[in-house]
Amino acid sequence: MRKKLFIKTYGCQMNVYDSARMTDVLAPLGYVPVDQPEGADMIILNTCHIREKAAEKVYSELGRLRPLKRAREEDGGEMILAVGGCVAQAEGDEVRRRAPWVDVVFGPQAYHRLPDMVSQVTRQAIVDTEFPVEAKFDFLPEESSPRGAAAFLTIQEGCDKFCTFCVVPYTRGAEFSRPLGDVLAEARRLVENGTSEITLLGQNVNAYHGNGADRRPRSLADLIRELALIDGLHRLRYTTSHPRDMDQALISAHGDVEALMPFLHLPVQSGSDRILAEMNRRHTAAEYRSIVERIRLARPDIALSSDFIVGFPGETDAEFQSTLELVADVEFASAYSFRYSTRPGTPAADRDDQVPEDVKSARLNELQALIDRQSRAFNEATVGRELQVLLERPGRHSGQLVGRSPYMQAVHVHADDSHLGRIASVRIEAAMPNSLSGSIVGNDVGRLRSVDAA
Ligand code: SAH
Ligand code: SF4
Ligand code: F3S
Repeated sequence: MRKKLFIKTYGCQMNVYDSARMTDVLAPLGYVPVDQPEGADMIILNTCHIREKAAEKVYSELGRLRPLKRAREEDGGEMILAVGGCVAQAEGDEVRRRAPWVDVVFGPQAYHRLPDMVSQVTRQAIVDTEFPVEAKFDFLPEESSPRGAAAFLTIQEGCDKFCTFCVVPYTRGAEFSRPLGDVLAEARRLVENGTSEITLLGQNVNAYHGNGADRRPRSLADLIRELALIDGLHRLRYTTSHPRDMDQALISAHGDVEALMPFLHLPVQSGSDRILAEMNRRHTAAEYRSIVERIRLARPDIALSSDFIVGFPGETDAEFQSTLELVADVEFASAYSFRYSTRPGTPAADRDDQVPEDVKSARLNELQALIDRQSRAFNEATVGRELQVLLERPGRHSGQLVGRSPYMQAVHVHADDSHLGRIASVRIEAAMPNSLSGSIVGNDVGRLRSVDAA
């Protein structure tokens, strides 16, 4: 019997990947994905715990879902309500204490057991936040449906770095890399089903060290070179990287692997060495600048992106100025910045030198204004150029398609659906604050670098 499954995904791309895999796991039980919660037989909230706001959103959503569930049960139906992901892992039983109408709570390493949980739920509520003795990947079925032109593929999970502000080592567990052969097999299946761009995912993706067939570990650079040989896989990206693991082999791959797109998200968090040390980032601002220099030597047109935290405990005005200086020097194509958010159980949360919220907000505004100027300048510099755009999906207006440039810019074009899933040469005509628009000047799947790239 067909049952309706609604999944709402919060947080990072790894959760997007996990949500798709949950659909695969539940497909044999007759669940088909739907895009609204009304009338669903099962609802999963795949949650994020990274900042307080992200975590609190889940409880307000659970409040909204409560009457839906009740109405369905009053009609004699059933609605299984499940909370997965990083809030589930961090809070476990607490989720059911705050929202007793939740039936299942499961962590990011437990979702391969969803069929068992679903079959037991009629008898009792389930909380499964065990970290696995076995890796869940060994138990996941093949993809139940095509993933589209651009797809995510998780190759590495967890984190052993323990930055003092961050919950990820506690919610995702210890660092783990999938074997090379498994990643290659999944990538080939994706390509057979129409994917032409793959973004490799991991909380520390460039710490990848999965075993090859000979049981010797391979690096991310090795993996990228193997993936680039797959016929029909035209574009590769990876995220998120840590500066400590940005080795020369990976930097060099940006210089000569044609499928590897000229975009790198490399979070630095702060430009102050004292703050970086307090964050336990284990690199300095100078080391970050040196990576940037070397990667631009390998790939002069690379677009750089980063994450910043402002108002980490004890951050002074002068230390914040060092962050602004680093941004001014590097010139980012885009970047995310956040107010420091205290996370229960992390070392920095207990410090008594927390920065007042109004100071954090003022710093955030200043940093974001600078980053906005840089991303606008980056986008404007592409006007007049011809870029290769992978047209991924229909736009908001009819007759419009949206895709990504090699540099990760969103690009809108007027084109009919026959262009969907194809890589087209697009003449860029205008730059908006967060996207570009242009016209197709030719379909050219084989030629991937922008024609006027350095
Ligand atoms: N693994 C990645 C990032 C993981 S979380 C890395 O090491 O860079 C994504 C981003 O959220 C981080 O880069 C950081 O900028 C931000 N973040 C993490 N914890 C935070 C906190 N407690 N408060 C504010 N921002 C935070
Ligand atoms: Fe969090 Fe640091 Fe690990 Fe990134 S490297 S996931 S910021 S602990
Ligand atoms: Fe959030 Fe978990 Fe990703 S905390 S950012 S969903 S790893």
